[in-house]
Amino acid sequence: MLNLSKSHKNLVLTSFWGYLILSSFVSIIPAIQMQNVKPLPGQKDLTVEERDGLHTFVAEDCMACHTMQVRNIEMDKMWGSRPSIPSDYYYTKKRIDIWRQSPSFLGSERTGPDLTNIGARQPSDDWHLIHLYNPRLVVKESVMPSYKWLFAEKDSTKITDKDVVIKVPAEQLKDKKNKVVATNKALHLVAFLKSLKQPELPGAPNVTFIPAKPKPAAAAGGGGDAGASALPDGEKLFMNTCAVCHQADGKGIPGAFPPLAGSSVVNDENFRKQASVIILGYDARPEYSAMPPFGDQLSDEEVAAIMNHERTSWGNNAKTVTAEDVKSVRDSLKK
Ligand code: HEC
Ligand code: HEC
Repeated sequence: MLNLSKSHKNLVLTSFWGYLILSSFVSIIPAIQMQNVKPLPGQKDLTVEERDGLHTFVAEDCMACHTMQVRNIEMDKMWGSRPSIPSDYYYTKKRIDIWRQSPSFLGSERTGPDLTNIGARQPSDDWHLIHLYNPRLVVKESVMPSYKWLFAEKDSTKITDKDVVIKVPAEQLKDKKNKVVATNKALHLVAFLKSLKQPELPGAPNVTFIPAKPKPAAAAGGGGDAGASALPDGEKLFMNTCAVCHQADGKGIPGAFPPLAGSSVVNDENFRKQASVIILGYDARPEYSAMPPFGDQLSDEEVAAIMNHERTSWGNNAKTVTAEDVKSVRDSLKK
């Protein structure tokens, strides 16, 4: 029998082997397996600017509030179309330099939304820049800090074509004659955020979400207005997709995102323009930034539901549209 209380040799050797066996399971074997991780087809390495933005992301400790990890549970479905896999981190794992390991972006706190797919969800540079300058300019209740030191105030007479001016209300400025320009740090950080798009898996996905327990009795019976409206909830869709720019009250942000309350496009009896703005995006006027297209993200039913919410809210009063109306516009835009 191994006598651990009398023989110091046995004691030390047993703990040594125990330590070695455990650490090979916990870290050595996983580290060897990591060497076999390959990038997914279609996944791109970061550009020099994007990698610089990643370093700013680390330096500003954005991971303190943001995860970059879609867990394999149903509630994470809103952050990506599949759970995250090791390949997703292939290009960010490059060492920062010889002394510093790339940090893990998986994160553990989700005070703000997961950023795995933020490049697809929010492709607008202007929105990201205004949001970083002061999140409360676009999301009123936001608790995210302002990152004003990534921007500089510049005398408006000294602005050149190279400067990226962001439109913020004058009362935010130290001097009303100034304009806010984004530094390279801010621009590269936004480039990095926009590069974050969850790549598709080749072939049939072998990772799936574990479904949540169905809520008892929710499916049966129900509200009773089945058939009354075949369209999804337009207000909810608007809040999820459009309100970050046009705001929940439809008033927009002066100088950046136009109001939809009282908008001639929204109140037009002819719905064609309104539908095409949503499907194709819109960049018609210099006084506003550009609206990204939503045609790929939203179905005809969803576009119709959002349009109807806009057409009947905030004092707007235009005739509602159907999914077939939207389909006809979409078909004609394809031609
Ligand atoms: C104190 C916590 C906190 C920190 C630190 C933080 N954020 Fe946020 N972030 C939030 C919260 C809360 C939201 C949701 C409200 C909003 O949109 O402002 C958010 C939203 C966002 C969004 C929009 C996400 C979406 O789905 O609409 C982006 C992009 C973002 N943050 C980027 C960053 C970057 C880049 C940094 C570091 C420079 C950072 N955040 C640091 C809390 C934080
Ligand atoms: C990233 C910010 C952003 C998001 C998100 C966004 N928009 Fe826009 N939208 C804009 C900007 C900017 C314009 C003005 C573009 C221009 O005139 O150059 C605009 C214009 C419009 C207009 C035309 C209004 C007018 O009077 O000219 C409509 C209608 C509209 N958006 C609807 C929507 C809907 C519906 C959604 C959600 C599916 C949405 N937008 C999401 C930024 C955004």
